Amino acid sequence: MHSSLVVIKHVVLKPVIRFFLRHPEKMHSRWFIWVMRIFPDRMSERYDHALAISREALQAGMHELITYMPQKPNLILDVCTGTGAVALILAHELPQAVIHGVDISLRMLDKARKKAESNQVTNIVWQREDAQKLSYRDNSFDLVVTANAPVYIDELARVVRERGNLCIWFSFSAEVFTESVEEMRTLLASYQMKLVRIMVRDNQVGLVAEKLSIPNSDVYPERDSNA
Ligand SMILES: C[S@@+](CC[C@H](N)C(=O)[O-])C[C@H]1O[C@@H](n2cnc3c(N)ncnc32)[C@H](O)[C@@H]1O
Repeated sequence: MHSSLVVIKHVVLKPVIRFFLRHPEKMHSRWFIWVMRIFPDRMSERYDHALAISREALQAGMHELITYMPQKPNLILDVCTGTGAVALILAHELPQAVIHGVDISLRMLDKARKKAESNQVTNIVWQREDAQKLSYRDNSFDLVVTANAPVYIDELARVVRERGNLCIWFSFSAEVFTESVEEMRTLLASYQMKLVRIMVRDNQVGLVAEKLSIPNSDVYPERDSNA
């Protein structure tokens, strides 16, 4: 990985993540939205190579997630799909499912679409969407996943169906999230979501939540969970 990216990853990223975990509303601020729009468009060509993220851990995490779900998800949304890493893994794991891979950056979507075409993947719908204001109806998806991206949790929670799952994945700084489990649990609960599983692999982390049917209730018994 390029040395400046190493510095960003290890020195800048952790305090930044901690800040956003404590102040998720700042992800709606103008400067944050501006950075999020400029940066991906500029680095779409180099993204997969430059970040040098281990995709094996992500792949294993998605496999664990699907195995954990009591029913195989048929309709899946990958929000902030970028070059399509999560959507492509899920398309391979679940060839019968329909996956929507959405992102605000047309250049990132273009890379994702080309990767799908060259791998003859046909069960992904690529679409431009703003994660702050998704065009989908409430309770639409069996599974909503987002990886390495701003988490607009209100929208993610809104489009997951009742008893469906949300998975928030970060391919770095796992300990920042594992140290903040209670904050995450509280944040998710305010959106009718219950944290049911935490997956950690190679400093990568996936938080899995389930959408409850009755607001603010805790009626569902915990399934096999390490949360
Ligand atoms: C670091 S990339 C992660 C891509 C992919 N999920 C992965 O793990 O490789 C973050 C992505 O979030 C997208 N993004 C940022 N803000 C967004 C928004 N408001 N709506 C949709 N996508 C957004 C960017 O365009 C970028 O593709």
